[in-house]
Amino acid sequence: MLFQTTKKQEDLRKKVREFAESEVKPIAFLLDKENEFPSEAIAKFADMGMMGLPYPKEYGGAGADVLSYAIAVEELSRVDGGTGVILSAHVSLGSYPIFAFGNEEQKQKYLTPLAKGEKLGAFGLTEPNAGSDAGGTETTAVLEGDHYILNGGKIFITNAPVADTYVVFASTNPDAGTHGISAFIVEKGWEGFTFGDHYDKMGIRSSSTAELIFNNVKVPKENLLGKEGQGFKIAMATLDGGRIGIAAQALGIAQGAYEHALEYAKERIQFGKPIAQQQAISFKLADMATKLRCARFLVYSAAELKEAHEPYGMESAMAKQYTSDICLEVVNDALQIFGGSGYLKGMEVERAYRDAKICTIYEGTNEIQRVVIASHIIGKMKK
Ligand code: CAA
Repeated sequence: MLFQTTKKQEDLRKKVREFAESEVKPIAFLLDKENEFPSEAIAKFADMGMMGLPYPKEYGGAGADVLSYAIAVEELSRVDGGTGVILSAHVSLGSYPIFAFGNEEQKQKYLTPLAKGEKLGAFGLTEPNAGSDAGGTETTAVLEGDHYILNGGKIFITNAPVADTYVVFASTNPDAGTHGISAFIVEKGWEGFTFGDHYDKMGIRSSSTAELIFNNVKVPKENLLGKEGQGFKIAMATLDGGRIGIAAQALGIAQGAYEHALEYAKERIQFGKPIAQQQAISFKLADMATKLRCARFLVYSAAELKEAHEPYGMESAMAKQYTSDICLEVVNDALQIFGGSGYLKGMEVERAYRDAKICTIYEGTNEIQRVVIASHIIGKMKK
């Protein structure tokens, strides 16, 4: 597909870039150092109407397209990968399942405040024994009268404990495998719903990540999302879209590191000329630019397919896998161009190097992305 962004999309990029440069970049070093969530910046971003970009205005969203949302994640991540994933997890994982599978009442009650940015969303799928094998969910939900009783826990949950609303997956019929998993909307503050410690991560340290603990949590029956047993498909469909967000995050992290390296290479003089004029460095920059361009096509075209309601699961897996793989290569080359000074704390490229790695791991490891891509092109492998 030939690709051309619209003026509206580029105007949005400019707006988010200005915000990222003025509100996030100056504090990014401290957020990383202190493992601190950018509450004020996210509140300002919400005031700009950015937390529900792809959702209809009738539900408090901005009524923009999927690509505009991807561009917003890219631009935040260009200055800080952690801030980028806060938006991605909120829009793609915390809000999308309610938008796509919720009934009208659930959309009014939960999607609207999420899309307006009054509340923050999160997604609880991963467990100690259900990581790549998401169907191995051990958290249970047992129907008792008007409530499901939720027991178990989730690990590595982005936006926890800051988020207000959690889409949580639990088994309502442990004998039925993936067909026994159901999805629920769970609110922070409900009795028995607590959090583990905020993880001390290698990168994306401005984003908050914690464990969810459910101890006999009473979830009203009306908070079942979709039908009983539909949860695994809801999770998989949600992740198809979520992977566009992570691909956009990886694109932004790589773009930021590339720009820093390019600028530095033009200024840094060695052997009597800027290192950008030395072939060893100019070839690196050429490869970085080429990889970024390929990745951008993949990410934007996956977003366009989703927007057009065409199948996009394979394309989003390709975008996520390729972009996060080249993100690692690009930040590695960027740091190499900086040499010893890139290895120092406080250098953006050092933070980007640490932020980049997670993109090959979460929302499905890149090995799982290849499973997804292969199952689209070959058919599902026999178990
Ligand atoms: N959309 C809708 N339905 C889907 C689907 C999709 N994309 N993919 C699979 N399904 C359906 C299948 O059609 C199948 O349905 P039937 O049984 O009715 O035929 C059912 O789901 C089971 O499918 P599989 O047999 O293919 O499932 P599996 O157990 O082999 O698992 C998998 C497939 C792709 C490996 C899946 O487990 C997976 O995606 N794992 C990775 C999990 C993951 O990405 N976790 C990320 C957590 S969130 C996170 O990381 C967020 C963050 O921090 C920012």
